[in-house]
Amino acid sequence: MRRLYPIRRMLPFLGILATVLLMIFAFVLGLVSFGKMRQVVTEEFNGQQLVLAQNLAALIQQDLDFLRRELTVLNLSPSVQYSESPSLVSRLKVTLSSIQEGELLEIRRVSADGGEAVVLDRSGVVRTEAGPFTDDPSFLWAVSPKKRGHILMGEPSQALRERYADRPLVVMAIPHYQTSPDEAHPHPTGQFSGVLLFVLDASAIARRFTDHARSGNTGYAWVIDERGTFLAHPMNSFVGKNAFTVRTQRNPSIGFEGINAIMSDRMLTGQEGTGSYVSGWHRQAVGPIHKLIGFCPVHIDPERPGRRWSVAVVAPVSEVHGLVASLFMRQFFMQAAIVLAILAGGLSLFRLERHWTRIKKQREREVNLSSRLASLGMLSAGVAHEINNPIAIILGFADVLLEETPPDTKAYGHLKIIERQGLACKKIVENLGRFARIPEQRDETTDLNEEVRRVLSMVQNTLLTDKVDCRADLQEDLPLVMGDPQGLQQVLLNLITNARGAMKKSGGTLTVQTRRMDDRVAVSVGDTGHGIPKKDLGRIFDPFFTTKAPGEGTGLGLSISHGIVEKAGGKITVESIHEDDVGAGHCGTTFTVVLPVVAHKS
Ligand SMILES: Nc1ncnc2c1ncn2[C@@H]1O[C@H](COP(=O)(O)OP(=O)(O)OP(=O)(O)O)[C@@H](O)[C@H]1O
Ligand SMILES: [Mg+2]
Repeated sequence: MRRLYPIRRMLPFLGILATVLLMIFAFVLGLVSFGKMRQVVTEEFNGQQLVLAQNLAALIQQDLDFLRRELTVLNLSPSVQYSESPSLVSRLKVTLSSIQEGELLEIRRVSADGGEAVVLDRSGVVRTEAGPFTDDPSFLWAVSPKKRGHILMGEPSQALRERYADRPLVVMAIPHYQTSPDEAHPHPTGQFSGVLLFVLDASAIARRFTDHARSGNTGYAWVIDERGTFLAHPMNSFVGKNAFTVRTQRNPSIGFEGINAIMSDRMLTGQEGTGSYVSGWHRQAVGPIHKLIGFCPVHIDPERPGRRWSVAVVAPVSEVHGLVASLFMRQFFMQAAIVLAILAGGLSLFRLERHWTRIKKQREREVNLSSRLASLGMLSAGVAHEINNPIAIILGFADVLLEETPPDTKAYGHLKIIERQGLACKKIVENLGRFARIPEQRDETTDLNEEVRRVLSMVQNTLLTDKVDCRADLQEDLPLVMGDPQGLQQVLLNLITNARGAMKKSGGTLTVQTRRMDDRVAVSVGDTGHGIPKKDLGRIFDPFFTTKAPGEGTGLGLSISHGIVEKAGGKITVESIHEDDVGAGHCGTTFTVVLPVVAHKS
């Protein structure tokens, strides 16, 4: 048990150490799972970006399909095939009105010889442009008989490019042949009769869908064409510019290798997928920003697989990581709270256990002391009886001899020593006798204040000579307590004598206080003496325990007092601070005797 004691004392520290280690372990584990979670969530998020890019690409493709259908339907109209004004103009206006504003810039009908073109622009104005248009890429394509029934997504002519210099264009062309009969032409010739063109704003088509697209909180979409020109981007100034150059112009401090590689190796080669790169900004924020990207191609010309745009959806990594970090922190704090709660519970259990052990030990000590006092009582009754008579005889004869011996002789001195030592023996025997004589006092009652006053008046003089200042703080109207007055008087005397002994060296203050405590009364005797060392506190009530020089104390005062108080159904406790612990001036001892109340003083 004794060997286990140091381990028991170390238990709280071991507990704290274990908790700290546990928390470090949990933290490391949390960090690892945080990394994994971040990776999974990031991949999942980027997967969603890819799905968004695919949807946007599909929408753009559908829009282009719709435009192709409109062109085809318009091409079937006899007024277009035979170029019959004014029905041609009104037919062109019908088509113009059915197409989303902004997307279609002009409808052009170039004559079969390429010499002139009828043009309807967005504002609804019709004009005739003089050619020749024979060198236009779309005309050169359309005259070939093989292209009959086909649609070209082609490049704009130089003239168109100049006219709409501020926007990226794409030209949708279809050759028309006189195939549809009408009243004026009941027998269609089947001849090539010109080219019908939609001059389209590629940027308007792309932005129609991507402008409102959102990924996460701040992510956005952009579109490039097959040359890497921005068709759509939240930064208006980027539209129509080459993505490879315009980025570097905006933030030359960043390499953009990552996004350039993604664009040239994957987006412009028609792949779809996800990736990440470092950008120089995100919306208003400027600086190196790690971003996630999902991208998907838009096949703008079903007949030419090489003609494609690419839609990208991007968002900063921090958007995903911030969310994961806050989740992680919440989980970590919850874990920490649980561990701390367990630790606190464990510690309080441990303290409770120590408290109970202490109380149990004290009980055991008290029981021990009581039984020792009881057996000592029986023994001392016998001893007192046996020794009393011989001592009385010794003292009697010493007295007789003293009377017969002249005081100034050597023999007289020796006889005096015999008398003194004999008296000391008598005192010890008397004290021992008290153990046997402690009566069952349950029926006797005492007025404590009265006994305190009586004892104080007895010791007043000796206190004065010892330079002890005496203070009595007695609560009036105290009820009577259990215990015989003489016994309690002796207890008070013992306590005061001990206090005086402790202040013998340089005086001090003695305080005697009485207080009512519900159904009990407490009397305390406090001193400002040297105090009791901690190691002795558990032994002072033991019979014969004394720190006084041989002959000065028997060590029975407190054990007798303890016996008297216990018989009265009360308790005696001590609090002490030894001078070695705090230095002289702050030390002292207070004994408190608590006794059960009998009845109110009448
Ligand atoms: N007020 C006190 N201040 C300091 N030490 C005390 C005080 N009261 C008791 N003690 C310590 O407790 C010991 C036991 O006290 P106890 O009254 O039982 O015996 P004693 O005073 O030594 O001898 P006796 O009372 O028989 O003359 C003392 O020797 C002393 O060391
Ligand atoms: Mg004493």
